[in-house]
Amino acid sequence: MKALILAGGKGSRLRPLTYSMAKQLVPVANKPVIEYGIEAIAAAGVKDFGIIVADTAKAIEEVVGDGSRWGVKVTYIAQPEPLGLAHAVATAKPFLGGDEFIMYLGDNMIKSPLDGLIREFQDPATASTILLTAVPNPSDFGVAELKEGHVVRLEEKPKAPRSNLALVGVYLFRGLIHDHIARLKPSARGEYEITDAIQSLIDAGLNVRSHIVEGWWKDTGTVEAMLEANRLILEDLPRAICGEVDDRSRVEGRVSLGKGSRVLNSVVRGPAIIGEGCVIEDSFVGPFTAIDSGTVLQGTEIEYSIVLGDCRLIRPGARIEASLIGRGATVGHAAGVPKTMQLVLGDSSQLTLP
Ligand code: TTP
Repeated sequence: MKALILAGGKGSRLRPLTYSMAKQLVPVANKPVIEYGIEAIAAAGVKDFGIIVADTAKAIEEVVGDGSRWGVKVTYIAQPEPLGLAHAVATAKPFLGGDEFIMYLGDNMIKSPLDGLIREFQDPATASTILLTAVPNPSDFGVAELKEGHVVRLEEKPKAPRSNLALVGVYLFRGLIHDHIARLKPSARGEYEITDAIQSLIDAGLNVRSHIVEGWWKDTGTVEAMLEANRLILEDLPRAICGEVDDRSRVEGRVSLGKGSRVLNSVVRGPAIIGEGCVIEDSFVGPFTAIDSGTVLQGTEIEYSIVLGDCRLIRPGARIEASLIGRGATVGHAAGVPKTMQLVLGDSSQLTLP
């Protein structure tokens, strides 16, 4: 069994962040999204990983490296154009050969062990296994119709969904998927769709099984989903205070405070994570907030947000909420001129004022 992680794509829904970084590297609870997937697959015993990369290849390689951190071997595979998930599999064919593999979308997070799923797939009568989860809005997803646990039909974003079971970004395939991908035509949106390849297996009378996710699943492709994934991970955060807290401050509940970080005259209410070398001064950090290393907060109230490393949030003048703030950003108040704003915003930035 090999693993194929997809970390190419456009990331258009996460702009402007994805102008300067790979969406698979955006941190959730201060850890790049892609690492959660690698960890889960490595924990299931898979050792041979291929990672599909595109424009952001260098940054992904710098973070993931050769895989030795997880005891696995990583091969990087360049996809020249983001022509769809099935196209990514076709691009990886020289690496995959005829082997069976688990395919995992690099921006997805799933809290459900994968070993049972991989074990079940040993049954050679199964051509593919897909993961499903019940969602309230199936029309926004690929939806599966089941009969006695077997998948009989897949539909991409159906107007009248036949079930509430959405496809999760984890799939198991055998080598024969390549023959079905080779026959695909691009879809209406111009991509080679993996759902079409799986439908082709079903149409050929092959057995496609489903597995319902027990825990939670998030596609972190949007800001809302990213914040939600951050909340879900922080729900399980243990308390660990490695930094310094002065006697005018309170650090309440499950808070992780990294080495060299200082909390001065502030309140930090968990669950929250603060990386290394941060300064939190005259500030309030509320639940479900992740602040990455090197960031400084002064006179700032913030909750339910993700702040990347080396930011400066200095007296913004209103509580920051449900925000995703990119690396090295500065948020502050114009000194002496309270009715003016000075903005330096990147393309597609969003600023919601009180
Ligand atoms: P998507 O989120 O479906 O696509 P995208 O990355 O282009 O994002 P957006 O819709 O916001 O523009 O992709 C799911 C995962 O698969 C993601 O980690 C990127 C990866 N991917 C590839 O590696 N190659 C591809 O051709 C595509 C479409 C996606």
